[in-house]
Amino acid sequence: MKILLVGSGGREHALAWKIAQSPQVEKLFIAPGNAGTQAVGENVNLKATDFAALKAFALQKGIDMIVVGPEDPLVQGIFDAFKADDYTAHIAVIGPTAQGAMLEGSKEFAKAFMARHHIPTARYLSVTSATLQEGLDFLSTLQAPYVLKADGLCAGKGVLILPTLEEARNALKEMLGGMFGNASATVVIEEFLSGIECSVFVMTDGRHYKVLPVAKDYKRIGEGDKGLNTGGMGSITPVPFADEAFMEKVRTRIIEPTVNGLQEEGIRYQGFIFLGLINVKGEPMVIEYNVRMGDPETESVMLRIKSDLVELLKGVAQGDLDRRTLELDPRTAACVMLVSGGYPEAYEKGKAISGLEQAAQTDSLVFHAGTATKDGRTVTAGGRVIAVCSYGETKEEALAKCYKAAEKIAFEKKYFRKDIGFDL
Ligand code: AMP
Ligand code: GLY
Repeated sequence: MKILLVGSGGREHALAWKIAQSPQVEKLFIAPGNAGTQAVGENVNLKATDFAALKAFALQKGIDMIVVGPEDPLVQGIFDAFKADDYTAHIAVIGPTAQGAMLEGSKEFAKAFMARHHIPTARYLSVTSATLQEGLDFLSTLQAPYVLKADGLCAGKGVLILPTLEEARNALKEMLGGMFGNASATVVIEEFLSGIECSVFVMTDGRHYKVLPVAKDYKRIGEGDKGLNTGGMGSITPVPFADEAFMEKVRTRIIEPTVNGLQEEGIRYQGFIFLGLINVKGEPMVIEYNVRMGDPETESVMLRIKSDLVELLKGVAQGDLDRRTLELDPRTAACVMLVSGGYPEAYEKGKAISGLEQAAQTDSLVFHAGTATKDGRTVTAGGRVIAVCSYGETKEEALAKCYKAAEKIAFEKKYFRKDIGFDL
């Protein structure tokens, strides 16, 4: 098979690494990829949202399957763009239709979907500037802190958690007034849920599903989960509290109603569903849906999939996922993200990275997140630069290996959290 993977981060390097191991793969292209994906496939300099160029490339190279990493192309309708065109309709696209991608693209849509299918989630009200007063009244019925979410995509920045009613009222007005542009023209006000979060990844062909290893990600920049939100500073799988009893509730109350709900509503969905869950005293509740794999969860989750991922992806595309096997590695897998100093605020790019070969000789896997090749050297090209991932019999062992490999890699102002997994 010839596969085209779309995206350029650590998630895509991990997916590319796993896909490239399949004996079914004749050729793997990554668009646009990064300095790391080059080692497992061929990078093509095309934008993830340039559907016309991706279609032309896919036709020219005889691509059989497109695997979509990030949310933007999914929300913008990459699946539909391929399927609506007679020339590209035969190409398998792993990802939902634009309609299905609204589970991530619109918080209001996701909340209404969960309400229709009785999926446990926080109480909410969706407001626009025309219904501001109702929103202010609803806020008064809630307890602090207050959760406000921009309806549309904001690259992970659209959720505000405010400590007082006064601040929440002001923030609501600012959001509706354009704080996040059009993305916050509608705001979802939510009840605050208290508990520990985890990420559950589901693969579905629209009827059947398989649950991938559950992971936990660490979003804050600082140790002890302090400071600003980032794209993710590390991840770990498995998650001990997501035990069999908890996962049984996740399957019956959340995954099955979601897959069946999509089907009942006639929404075609052949891809990944990422459930951002919170464990409220043993009861799983949905914080958010994403319509793709998580980053940096994918980097550790891929380590724990023993089966041929391409075989599973074929099941997703062909509707016979129930006949494919998913075998998991029982070990722990951990991921530690090395980031550019200053991130998630201003940081510099283009810094030379050394020690990658030495790190590769350790027991760890090194996935590139934000790197590029410049004059034959690997340089930093993003806030999150390198994801160091390792196996262990325990989380302590997996993390110790990550930290050992992390010390071998050097670039100016390198920073990473040394407490990944601290709360498990
Ligand atoms: P989201 O972008 O929806 O993942 O939200 C970002 C983060 O805000 C989540 O990972 C949670 O930590 C937090 N959050 C979102 N909604 C709630 C809620 N209803 N209660 C408590 N925390 C929340
Ligand atoms: N790790 C969270 C995300 O990918 O959105």
